[in-house]
Order: sequence, then C-alpha cells, then structure tokens
Amino acid sequence: MVVLSLRGWHPAIARFEAMAMFPELQLERTPARRLLVGAGESDWERTEKLSGTECVLIDGGISEWTTIDELLSMIKVEPVQNMSVICWRHEGKLATSTKEIERRIGEMFHSKGSTINLTNPENRFGVILDASAGLVAWGWMSGQGPGTHGWSAMNANNRPYFKPISLEPRIARAAVNIAAGTSKGVVLDPMCGTGGLLIEAALCNRSAIGIDIDPEMVNGTKQNLQWANVTAEVILGDATNFEFPQNLSGVVIDPPYGRNSQLSESTALTTILGELVKQLKSCSLVLILPMDPGLEDLDEEIECNLEIPGFLITACLGIPVHKSLGRMMIIAKTLG
Ligand SMILES: C[S@@+](CC[C@H](N)C(=O)[O-])C[C@H]1O[C@@H](n2cnc3c(N)ncnc32)[C@H](O)[C@@H]1O
Repeated sequence: MVVLSLRGWHPAIARFEAMAMFPELQLERTPARRLLVGAGESDWERTEKLSGTECVLIDGGISEWTTIDELLSMIKVEPVQNMSVICWRHEGKLATSTKEIERRIGEMFHSKGSTINLTNPENRFGVILDASAGLVAWGWMSGQGPGTHGWSAMNANNRPYFKPISLEPRIARAAVNIAAGTSKGVVLDPMCGTGGLLIEAALCNRSAIGIDIDPEMVNGTKQNLQWANVTAEVILGDATNFEFPQNLSGVVIDPPYGRNSQLSESTALTTILGELVKQLKSCSLVLILPMDPGLEDLDEEIECNLEIPGFLITACLGIPVHKSLGRMMIIAKTLG
C-alpha cells in the first residue's frame, strides 16, 4: 500500500494534482482530507515536482490510531541501513508523543539489525498522526516530508518582472501538473502574462509555450524565465487567432478579468476555448477564473454552473484570495 500525504494549504487542489501525477496508483480519498491511499509502483522521484504533496509513504499502511504498541505490531520490520524515523502531525493533536513514537520504532528497527542515522539518513520511515480522522499512517518516505517547501524562495514578487496579476507559484505549479499530468507533450499558456505558469512548467522539465498580446508582458516573461534559469518559448501574439501546436500535454489559462467577470463576458477567452476545440483532437484544460468568495468553503470542491462549449468540466475548486476575492480552478477536458 502507498499513502500520499498532502500539504495543508489546499488539500483539494493537492488531491487533484496527485491524481493527475500518479494515475497508475488509482488514488482514493480517506476520512482524513490530507491522506490518500493507492497501490502499485511508480517513479517516486515525481513526488518532488508536486506542489501539494509533502511525501509518499511507500510499503506502508494506515489505520485507526489506538496505542503505540498497536502501531508497532502493524509495521513490517526488516534490517534497513542508514535510516531514521520521523513522526509528525496533521490537523491538530492526537494524545500521544511523536518523539516517543520515533524512539520506539527506531529501537524496533535497530533490534532487527538496522543502522540509525539521525543527521543525514538515506532512508526515512515516516509516521503521520491525523487528528481530524483519528488515523495513523506509516511507510518509507519519498519526497520532502513535513515543513515549509521552498515556495517562498520562488515568491512571484521576487522576480524581476512582477505584476499583481502574477499567480502564486504553488497554485501555478499545481495547475500545470493537473493539466499536463504525466504526458510528455508541450504545456500551452495562451495568455501568459508575467510567465508564472511557464516557469513552473519549465522547472518540472516540461516544454512550454506562452503567448501574450502585450509586448511588455512578453519581455517581462522572458526576463523572469532567465531569472529562474529555465527556458520556454514566448510568443508575442493574439491567442484568439493562432495556430496551436498539436503535441500539447495540457493548456492552462489565467485570463484577464474584472472583479465579477463571467466566462461569457470575456470574448477573447471564449474565442480561444472555441479554437482549442476546433483545432485540437483532444485537450486537457485548467482554467483559473475570479469569483465572489460568498459563503462557500473555498478550500474544497465547489458547485460550478459554468458551461464551456466542447468541454466536459470534471471539477471546480475554490481558491481563497482575500476577504472579497476568490478564484476558481476549473478542470476540464474536451468532449469525446
Ligand atoms: C491575468 S494575466 C495572466 C497572468 C499570468 N498567469 C501570470 O502569472 O502572470 C492575463 C494576460 O492575458 C493577456 N491577453 C489578453 N488578451 C489576449 C489575447 N487575445 N491573446 C494573448 N494574450 C492576451 C494579457 O495581456 C495579460 O497579460
């Protein structure tokens, strides 16, 4: 069994990203919103490319939390060299000690011939205590694990060309991963602005093409790509009148908007969507639109009354921005 542990900043976006990036694991939800389960083998190095997943626990398990002794009895122990044990919490506090769990599991492995390395271990055994559902999950870790990811270093306003329209890098990374999944094709951003989506695609070694109608944005995107030390093709042009490449893995669009713009109000966007349907055999799409935050829980899947001709909307996720502004991430595929 494999357990995927999601970061806390937006478990719903993280869930869709994980499902797109690990399709072979057939991931399913658990009662804990930050834990998914699946089965099978994968390329575990992919974990590092996901913005919403803190780690994968391989050859592990998940169970209701009872006692440390009960947990120890469920863990398969064999001699492992150069290992350590890390235990951390999700969503509050189950009444037990993480240090005690680490110590007891470490002792158990040591007694079976394992060697422990607390400073720079090659193998990390992870244990997660999830208070929201009273669950404990365990397994061999792939990926960073708990703690802040280096997203702050990639903060959009550290870039040489910044505008308030720039997407938050972790949202941009997830959007690209959801649209393109494990496909090797090119990521297209037909309204690339300051290049946030292109940077995230390129940082994951994906080929990417961006188009923008504004020469200042095109220049700014080029500066930002250079700053991030990655490459992507950036074209000055009108995406409503463009011959799109056929080898696309996914399309991500973050169109310009006023506060309450509706899809139908953005003529450029509707034209681009229509052209994608007309020109491409199939197309997987992530579209980011503004919304009135209202009373909805924007951290989860939300109701979406939109229709995009030629596309099937598979999910709509809310993204809180601030008190009076939210966004929604629409995940869709061409029909047929
Ligand atoms: C909200 S911004 C994109 C922001 C971007 N995701 C970022 O992180 O910076 C939308 C962009 O669409 C561009 N745009 C508007 N109409 C366009 C069109 N017909 N073709 C290409 N780009 C267009 C605007 O110049 C603007 O830079």
